[in-house]
Amino acid sequence: MNVLLIGSGGREHAIAIALAKSPILGKLFVAPGNPGMAALGEPVVLDVADHAAVASFCHLMNIDLVVIGPEAPLVAGLVDDLASAGVKAFGPSKLAARLEGSKGFTKDFCRRFDIPTAAYARFSDASAAEAHAREKGAPIVVKADGLASGKGVVVAMSLAEAEAAIDMIFAGGFGAAGKEVVVEEFLPGEEASFFALCDGRRAMALASAQDHKRVGEGETGPNTGGMGAYSPTPIMDAVVSDKVMREIVAPTLAGMAEMGAPFKGVLFVGLMIDAKGPKLIEFNVRFGDPETQAILPRLEEDLLALMLDCVEERLPQRAARLSPLTALSVVLAAKGYPAAPEKGSEIRGLERAASMPFVSITHAGTRRAGEKILADGGRVLNVTALGADVAEARARAYAAVEAIDWPEGFYRRDIGWRALKRA
Ligand code: AMP
Ligand code: GLY
Repeated sequence: MNVLLIGSGGREHAIAIALAKSPILGKLFVAPGNPGMAALGEPVVLDVADHAAVASFCHLMNIDLVVIGPEAPLVAGLVDDLASAGVKAFGPSKLAARLEGSKGFTKDFCRRFDIPTAAYARFSDASAAEAHAREKGAPIVVKADGLASGKGVVVAMSLAEAEAAIDMIFAGGFGAAGKEVVVEEFLPGEEASFFALCDGRRAMALASAQDHKRVGEGETGPNTGGMGAYSPTPIMDAVVSDKVMREIVAPTLAGMAEMGAPFKGVLFVGLMIDAKGPKLIEFNVRFGDPETQAILPRLEEDLLALMLDCVEERLPQRAARLSPLTALSVVLAAKGYPAAPEKGSEIRGLERAASMPFVSITHAGTRRAGEKILADGGRVLNVTALGADVAEARARAYAAVEAIDWPEGFYRRDIGWRALKRA
């Protein structure tokens, strides 16, 4: 089978590594890919927003499956347009992608299908939203309705902060994503993520993971796309995972099918867990970044075959086969990230680090210049290692990080601290 993989980050590099192991893979194309993926797939230049152009490329190159990494093309309906052109794609339709594309839609959906989540109200003007926040009191959470590259959420510890967030969003702080606002109850607890493959009716539990969103050690400083992740997370034992499959994933699939928008692809369930059990914080309709870099090295079966099962609606009724090992992934970012990462510095020692046992390296924001690899983004590399437990995976990952010579980069030294505290 020929596959076109869309995306350019560490997540897509990890997907490419997994796809390359598949015995049914013919040729892999990546649009646009990154320098780390060059040995795995042929890079192609495509305007992903031009769905007809993507479909033409697929016809020309006999692509049997398109795998879409990021959310924006899914929310824009790329899967639907490819399907109309007779091209199979792994991921949800435009209607099903509303589970990530609209927070208001998802909250109403949860209410209708009795899925445990924070209490909420939706608003289309600032004064009503602020009156509601005053009535409920702080802490309270303010969210822009639409896609805002993971930045559309303010956890307000005071009423003044909540009001400022509401004003900022309605003043256009998140662009069109902020035409509507969700104000919701603050949930205490520990966050975790859970991933399930879905074929529209059936779901297969894939794995749990936990990431680190703040840029600084000890969860300090601004939010980022994620500074590291590990899988599994000890907070999601078999009991909690079963509960998430039963109380969140199953009713979501049933509800979406009932609404005429069956969900296919990977459902990323963002959770808050406390003594009362798991509650949904948000859905994403694609793999997480950097969670995927920690999950896929544990997968002990053919990712491409599973993706095809999702698209062709014949997912086996069992959990995915995963290694019992723990994987831990550390993000190396360019100094200045997230506000103003410095681009262009040279990274050395990558081959040495990548050849260490149990280690894999994925590129997230690099550029090739002749023989050199240069930093070309905020999050630049992911260094992932497998180990018998979090401590071993972490020791191996940091040993490989130390082998990389990149003075202009930085990383958090405490990835996995919550899991270690529990051990
Ligand atoms: P989201 O973009 O929905 O993942 O939200 C970003 C972050 O805000 C989450 O990872 C949580 O840390 C936090 N958050 C979102 N909703 C809530 C909530 N209801 N209670 C507490 N924290 C929340
Ligand atoms: N790591 C969070 C995300 O992919 O949205």
